[in-house]
Amino acid sequence: MHDYANTTALVTGASKGLGEAYARELASRGAHLVLVARSADALHALAGQLRKAHSVRVDVIAADLSDRRSPQAVVDAVGELGLDVDLLLNNAGMGSVGPFLSRPLEPNLQSVDVNVTALIGLVHLLAPGMVERGRGGIVNVASTAAFQPMPYQASYAATKAFVLSFTEALAEEVRGTGVRVMAAHPGATDTGFFDRTTATMDPRATDTPADVAARTLDDFARGRSISFPGRAYNRVGAWAARLLPRTAVARVTGNLNRRAGFDDVSDLDPATL
Ligand SMILES: NC(=O)c1ccc[n+]([C@@H]2O[C@H](COP(=O)([O-])OP(=O)(O)OC[C@H]3O[C@@H](n4cnc5c(N)ncnc54)[C@H](OP(=O)(O)O)[C@@H]3O)[C@@H](O)[C@H]2O)c1
Repeated sequence: MHDYANTTALVTGASKGLGEAYARELASRGAHLVLVARSADALHALAGQLRKAHSVRVDVIAADLSDRRSPQAVVDAVGELGLDVDLLLNNAGMGSVGPFLSRPLEPNLQSVDVNVTALIGLVHLLAPGMVERGRGGIVNVASTAAFQPMPYQASYAATKAFVLSFTEALAEEVRGTGVRVMAAHPGATDTGFFDRTTATMDPRATDTPADVAARTLDDFARGRSISFPGRAYNRVGAWAARLLPRTAVARVTGNLNRRAGFDDVSDLDPATL
């Protein structure tokens, strides 16, 4: 059983949503934290709360992970703090929702930068030190979206398929080094993921970020290489997608996303947010 107490965990996307929940759960388990996201004020506010509630060190590094130079900048800042990262929790993520052709290109490109490029950049920079020390962990937050093409979330699901494939391959490459790598696949989780758009999640089908965070960390502690930290049917859906022809799966997910209204999504006016 992995013990988080007195280890140092770097959590990306810790300013809100699942990342904030991971940070809270890790602090309650005694881990020291490095919190990364763009929203420096939110990170500092969370850091203050965690220091007050738990005997842990919490540092903040504000970074825009869509900038290709950011993984190196984050790792340099970690070095300046004199820290070794024992657990890298690659959680930061974003996606574009709606018909691919009629939605702006930029969020699609940004999601590749954040969900894929920054994630592999941080792994490439931090994992060698873990291997050298003979211990460490990496948790990459993918999604149930990783297991099948998803019309109206086309590029988002593709980034998560990348994370799934990359994580499974890396786990095999580092097997036996003392470093463990796990992918976590939450289903719909009650966060602000769709906040800037008219898309919504069905509240009857969402899990809470706190539950998802706790289950992910339990699974990693138990030595799992894959985690489905949400409700049971998420795992069933992932397996069903492997059994059916991929065109049939795309039809089914397309129908489900049309029913959710994702084929008709617009951005909310930033002034109203
Ligand atoms: N919610 C779901 O239903 C769900 C389901 C499966 C998987 N996931 C995955 O869970 C992870 C967390 O998502 P969430 O639902 O918690 O979304 P969220 O509430 O929107 O939070 C996203 C986090 O990522 C950070 N982030 C976004 N763009 C960034 C950038 N350019 N640079 C640095 N940080 C950035 C945000 O911080 P700043 O805005 O402060 O930068 C925020 O802390 C993502 O990888 C997502 O794909 C979510």
